[in-house]
Amino acid sequence: MQIPKTYRESRAVQYPEPVSIIIVKDEKGCYNPMSASWVTFTSIEPRMLVVSIGFQRHTYELMKNQTEFVVSFPSAEMSSEVEFFGSNSGRDIDKLKALGSATQPATVIDGVLLKEAAVNYECRITDQLKTGDHMIFSAEIIASHVHQDELPRIYMLGPGLFGGV
Ligand SMILES: Cc1cc2nc3c(=O)[nH]c(=O)nc-3n(C[C@H](O)[C@H](O)[C@H](O)COP(=O)(O)O)c2cc1C
Repeated sequence: MQIPKTYRESRAVQYPEPVSIIIVKDEKGCYNPMSASWVTFTSIEPRMLVVSIGFQRHTYELMKNQTEFVVSFPSAEMSSEVEFFGSNSGRDIDKLKALGSATQPATVIDGVLLKEAAVNYECRITDQLKTGDHMIFSAEIIASHVHQDELPRIYMLGPGLFGGV
């Protein structure tokens, strides 16, 4: 039997939720990482995904002027990155430098991969769709990378709680 609840209450039972980190180049040539849960695969051929970015985010400003970005799926040990990249803005701070996160160059696009992540995808933007207070960017995945040790991914297990499942 279903019981009426507020939308906020219904969201609370949807954990664990996947988490990714979107990395976009800024106007100074730095790479800005932002934690993002709203990332979904949408097509097999061509390989495609969508990311949903709030209009308030620095990442949104950057995505408007970029054609490429990286989606990184952090490993279970990367809760510090997820929390830090998801609670600080690239407007105020160079987040990768502040945390000393290890990166390696992307192979096709002008971007960086998170070295200790489980998976990294290099993506090229194909389209945009406004949905309320977020913009959905669709993108083709043009290169895929997996950690040599095949690390497990991190998930959001509850508000402010992260770990592997
Ligand atoms: C676990 C987690 C998931 C998040 N998912 C999203 C998301 O899907 N879309 C979004 O716009 N913001 C999301 N955020 C919020 C942004 O990561 C946060 O506002 C960040 O500070 C924006 O950084 P920026 O200003 O450098 O772009 C999430 C935050 C956390 C901690």
